Amino acid sequence: IFSMNSDGTNHSWMITKYDHVKELLKSPSFIKDQSKFFSTSQDTEQNEFNIFQNMMLDVDPPDHTRLRRLVQPYFNPKTIKQLEPRIREIADDLLNQMKQKETTVDLIDDYAFPLPIIVISEMLGVPAEDRDKFRTWSNTIVSASNEMDPDFMDDVEAFTTYLTELFEQRKAEPQDDLVSHLIQTEEDGQQLTRNELYSMIVLLIIAGHETTVNLIGNTMYALFEHPEQLEKVKADPTLIPGAIEEGLRYYSPVDFSTARWADEDIDFHGQLIRRGDFILASISSANRDEEKFERASHFDVTRERNAHVAFGFGIHFCLGAPLARLEGKIALEKLLSTLPDIHLNRDVRSPEWRSVFLLRGLDSLP
Ligand code: HEM
Repeated sequence: IFSMNSDGTNHSWMITKYDHVKELLKSPSFIKDQSKFFSTSQDTEQNEFNIFQNMMLDVDPPDHTRLRRLVQPYFNPKTIKQLEPRIREIADDLLNQMKQKETTVDLIDDYAFPLPIIVISEMLGVPAEDRDKFRTWSNTIVSASNEMDPDFMDDVEAFTTYLTELFEQRKAEPQDDLVSHLIQTEEDGQQLTRNELYSMIVLLIIAGHETTVNLIGNTMYALFEHPEQLEKVKADPTLIPGAIEEGLRYYSPVDFSTARWADEDIDFHGQLIRRGDFILASISSANRDEEKFERASHFDVTRERNAHVAFGFGIHFCLGAPLARLEGKIALEKLLSTLPDIHLNRDVRSPEWRSVFLLRGLDSLP
C-alpha cells in the first residue's frame, strides 16, 4: 500500500497485494458514491441525459443490485454458451478476410477488435456497421483526462444523440435484442430510469469495445514472446482455455479497478485510511504477486489454480466474464488452426502499448 499524493485533506491510495486487493473489492466499507463526501459536477449537471451518471459499475447497493439483476440473465454462462456457433462464424469470416490480404495483417484491427464488437453489437441490437463510430467514441471516453475537453464533450453529445435515435427506433419497432428489452423495462417505469438506460448501454458498449480486444491481443502477444508456449498450445489446443486464463493474469486487460472511496476511517493492515479517501486496486500488480503465484513473472499456459483477479472481485465482478472467456477461447482456437504459421512481423512495426489509464492493450500487432 502506498499513499500517492495528498492535497492536505484527502489521500489517494493504491492497493497492490493480491490478498489486500480482494479484501478491498469485497469490503462494503469502500464505496462508489463519492457524493457522500464531495459535491461533484454530476450533482449540478442539468443535462437531461447524463450518459455516465448511473452506470452499475459506479453505484452501490441497492441501486447496483437492481441494475445488475436486469442484465445478469443475458450474460449468464448458459445464455452466453448459445452464442458459440455465431462467434465461430464471425471468427471464420474475419479470418477469411485476413487470408485475402496480400500485406501483413494487423491482429488488433483485423481480428481482436472486430470480433467482440460484432458480438456485443448483435446482442445489444446496434448496427455493427457503426462500429467505427463506437470505436471513436469509446476511445475518447476512456482516454479522456478532462471532462471539459471540447473533443470529449462533442463525442459524448454525438454518442447521446445516436442512442436517442436508436431508442426511438427500437421503441417504434422492438426487436429481440437487449436494447429493446431494456427500453421496455424503462417504459414500465419500475426498475430502470431513462438516465440508467443510457448509462447501461454506454457501459456495455464501452466494456464490449475496450476489454476483450486486449485479452485476445495481449494473449497472442505473450504467446509470440514465448514461442515454446505457443508451440505447446498449437500441439494441444485443449491448453487454449489455460492460455486465456494466463493471458488474463500475465497481461491483465484491465490494469486497475475503478475508483472507490472509504466510507469510514479504516485500519487497513496497519495503515489508517480516512473517510473520503480515494482508493484504487492494481489488478495487474495483484496478478503478479509472488506470494500468491509461483514464478509470478513467468508466462505459463499450464499454470494450475490460476485464481487471478483480472475480472475483479465482489459485487462488481465483471458481468461480461463468461462472454470474454468464450470469445477469447474461440478467437485463439480459430486463429491457430486456420493460420498455424502466424508470427509477429516486427519489420512492419514494433507492438506498442496504448497509453490509456486503466486498460492494458496494444495499438497494433502486425
Ligand atoms: C466489471 C474486467 C469484459 C461488462 C469489470 C471489472 C473488471 C472487468 C476488472 C470490475 C471493475 C471494478 O470492480 O472496479 C474485464 C475484462 C474483460 C471484460 C478483463 C475482458 C477480458 C467485459 C465484457 C463486458 C463487460 C465483454 C460486457 C459486454 C462489465 C460490466 C461490469 C464489469 C457491466 C460492471 C459490473 C458491476 O458493476 O456489477 N470488468 N471485463 N466486461 N464488466 Fe468487465
